[in-house]
Amino acid sequence: MPRRGEQHEYFQKASYRSPIHPAVQAYSAPKLRFLMNFLHIPRRARVLVLACGNGIFSEPLTREFDDLTVVDFSSGMLTENRWGERCLGDALKLPFRDGAFDLVFEANLLHHVVDPRAALAEMARVSRRHVALVEPNAWNPLMSAFSAITPVERAGLKFTPAYLRRMVRQAGMTLKDQLCTGMITQNLTPGFLVPILRAFDGRFPLGMYQMLFAETGNRS
Ligand SMILES: C[S@@+](CC[C@H](N)C(=O)[O-])C[C@H]1O[C@@H](n2cnc3c(N)ncnc32)[C@H](O)[C@@H]1O
Repeated sequence: MPRRGEQHEYFQKASYRSPIHPAVQAYSAPKLRFLMNFLHIPRRARVLVLACGNGIFSEPLTREFDDLTVVDFSSGMLTENRWGERCLGDALKLPFRDGAFDLVFEANLLHHVVDPRAALAEMARVSRRHVALVEPNAWNPLMSAFSAITPVERAGLKFTPAYLRRMVRQAGMTLKDQLCTGMITQNLTPGFLVPILRAFDGRFPLGMYQMLFAETGNRS
C-alpha cells in the first residue's frame, strides 16, 4: 500500500517532461480523444482535473473547456502547472461542495493513494455526473515490470481492469465504458519511438493504460 508521506516527498521533488513535449502530447492526445468522444458536454461545463501534476492533461483540457479547476497535493507540481484555477488539496478530502463539477478527471492518481476507494468516493461526491479515470493496466508486461521495480509505482501491480471496475462500482458509480490503450508513456518513451508506437493508440486489451468512464447518480 502506498504511504502518503513517501508519495508526497517524491512528488514534491519530481520533475516531468513539459506538457508540450512531443512525446507527452503523443501520450495525452489519444486519451483526450477517447474522453471527448465519450462526453457530450458543453465548453462551459465545470471540470476538475485531480492530481493534475505539471499539467499534462490540464494543458489540452483548457482548449476544450473554459472552466477548469486543477488540484494536486504537491506544491512543487502545482507551481509548474500554468493551466486552470490551481488549488492545493488532497484527493482524499477534496475542498469542494457536493456536485460542484460536471466532470471529474484523474490520470495516474489512484495507484498512488493510500486508499483508492476513498479517493473514488470523493470524486463521486464532487461530480454532478461524469467521472473519467486513466490508470496503468497491470496486464501490460512492460507496465507491470515498471511498477514492480519502481517503489512509488508498486501499487500499479494491482490495477487490472477488473480491480478498477470493482472499486468504481463500490463507490456507487455506474460504469459507462472501459478500455485499454497506448504504448507511449509520458516521461519515458524516447522521441524516436513515438511514430512507431502510435500504432497502439486505439483500443487494445494489453495497452499500457486503462481508461474508465463512469457516472454518478448526483444529477438532480
Ligand atoms: C504520476 S503523477 C500524474 C500526474 C498527471 N496526472 C499525469 O498523468 O501525468 C501523480 C500525481 O498525483 C499527485 N497526488 C498523489 N497523491 C495525491 C493526493 N493524495 N492528493 C492529490 N494529489 C496527489 C502527485 O502529486 C502527482 O502530481
